[in-house]
Amino acid sequence: MKAVVYTAYGEPAVLHTAEIGKPAVKDNEILVRVRATSVNFGDLMARNFKAVTPRTFNMVGALWLAARAMMGWNRPRAQVLGSEFSGVVAETGAQVTKFKPGDAVFGYVGSTFGAYAEYLCLPESGAVALKPANLSFEEAAAIPYGAIMAYNLMNLVEINPGDRVLINGASGAIGSAALQLAKLRGAQVTGVCGTARVETVRALGADRVVDYTREDFTQSGETYDLIFDVLRKGSLAKFKSVLKPKGVLLFASFKLRELVESMRTRNSTGQRVICKLVPENQETLNAVRELIAAGKLKVSIDRWYPLEQAAEAHRYAESGQKTGAIVITVPQGSPAGAV
Ligand SMILES: NC(=O)c1ccc[n+]([C@@H]2O[C@H](COP(=O)([O-])OP(=O)(O)OC[C@H]3O[C@@H](n4cnc5c(N)ncnc54)[C@H](OP(=O)(O)O)[C@@H]3O)[C@@H](O)[C@H]2O)c1
Repeated sequence: MKAVVYTAYGEPAVLHTAEIGKPAVKDNEILVRVRATSVNFGDLMARNFKAVTPRTFNMVGALWLAARAMMGWNRPRAQVLGSEFSGVVAETGAQVTKFKPGDAVFGYVGSTFGAYAEYLCLPESGAVALKPANLSFEEAAAIPYGAIMAYNLMNLVEINPGDRVLINGASGAIGSAALQLAKLRGAQVTGVCGTARVETVRALGADRVVDYTREDFTQSGETYDLIFDVLRKGSLAKFKSVLKPKGVLLFASFKLRELVESMRTRNSTGQRVICKLVPENQETLNAVRELIAAGKLKVSIDRWYPLEQAAEAHRYAESGQKTGAIVITVPQGSPAGAV
């Protein structure tokens, strides 16, 4: 089958098209004929992980070590990127009961990767669900990761109608879903993002948008009940200075400092810090699917590229110019079953 592979860490040019063996479905697995996949944070980081140091890695150092060992010390272990996918079930293993050939599905395989290819195998118990009918295959490939993570992280906090919520990183995969989930719970939401994505964040429903290249939200005088920081951009002290008493600081990315703070219950003003790694699970994807089907959760796509232009897709994703998600479409030319 056709796939985009990489055998060395590096710039987008390391991605190239190749013919590789089609994965064989195990008893508990489904084989998906991939229709679309995406370029997300994980793909970009895994493509050039050699350039990520413990200092630039935006999680605690121990996780950097674990990630480097898992991804491959000098060269990538998994040679096919792509963690989000949409497609059609081509084959099911003998023990599979939830899916059948012909089902349109979408999902997220996390650090297992493998979706930059014509076929992908995954356990039926993984983060995979029937594709919502109101999403195209392209849209469905760009939403599972961010929506699952945002849903699980936002469920760690209480949000009441009228609460003032700030999402620092509202234009990315996790932040754009978190923004919409906060709006669904009746919050007044401020989204922070870069210049090219201000209108996208506004269109996702933000009440106020702050361009971090022009304004520092910690200097505006506004205070918040919840600050959700996606990429660990900013100082803990500054965040606390604009957090209301009893407010919550929620970190998707965190170093030891934030982790230690999160171990205290509440400080003297009642403020609380939460840092947590959340799972990629089918249950959450099903919950997300219902929100999408009800028109309550959407994804904003900027561009899509055919599989053979995956390197170009990565280049654009890193250009700073993108206004929404980047999708890679997988040609459907080869007959089903071709190797
Ligand atoms: N806790 C968990 O279980 C968990 C799970 C998965 C991932 N993560 C973590 O989540 C992070 C990736 O999130 P993602 O996939 O949403 O990334 P993403 O799609 O790349 O989005 C990153 C966001 O951060 C914004 N940003 C960049 N520089 C900023 C700055 N100086 N100030 C404020 N915002 C800034 C970006 O804004 P612009 O693009 O508009 O510039 C964008 O909105 C990683 O650190 C990953 O480790 C955590």
